[in-house]
Amino acid sequence: MAGHSGLGYYLRRVLRVSLETGTMAHLLHRVTGLLIVVYLFLHIGAMSYTYFDAGSGFDDLMATFASTPFLIVDLVLFAGVMIHGLNGLRIMLFDMGYFSRRQKELFWVMMAIAATSVLIATWLVGAAHGWW
Ligand code: HEM
Repeated sequence: MAGHSGLGYYLRRVLRVSLETGTMAHLLHRVTGLLIVVYLFLHIGAMSYTYFDAGSGFDDLMATFASTPFLIVDLVLFAGVMIHGLNGLRIMLFDMGYFSRRQKELFWVMMAIAATSVLIATWLVGAAHGWW
């Protein structure tokens, strides 16, 4: 139908409805899915560096990746992967007919697991890099 597609229509729809659990889950899934795809390309690009420079350049690059700003970005990526993976599991369970009447509760259970895992990962990364 004309006017019922495209980014503008999508944004208008999302902004008009209040951020209910389902809307939020859908948005989070899309944003984290795209984030992981973007990371995948950056990762392949960075790893292909060895193809052009097999010398110490790669070690320097790895040292840069171990710096605090990159570690924080890593944790954001980890959060995205956990949110996407666990919510993806919820969608798959729902598609198979499980928890159909409990999918909102299941979303929050999954997000609680994701948040806990991010907190643990942050603590581990911080401990390994002398943040505390
Ligand atoms: C950890 C394991 C993963 C699980 C369980 C999972 C699960 C899912 C599911 C079930 C969907 C469909 C959502 C729907 O029906 O609306 C989906 C969409 C998607 N996934 Fe994953 N996924 C995983 C990993 C990944 C990875 C590694 C990437 C990127 C390289 C990725 C990128 C995407 C993208 C871009 C979409 C489309 C999002 C959208 O159109 O809203 N996923 N995922």
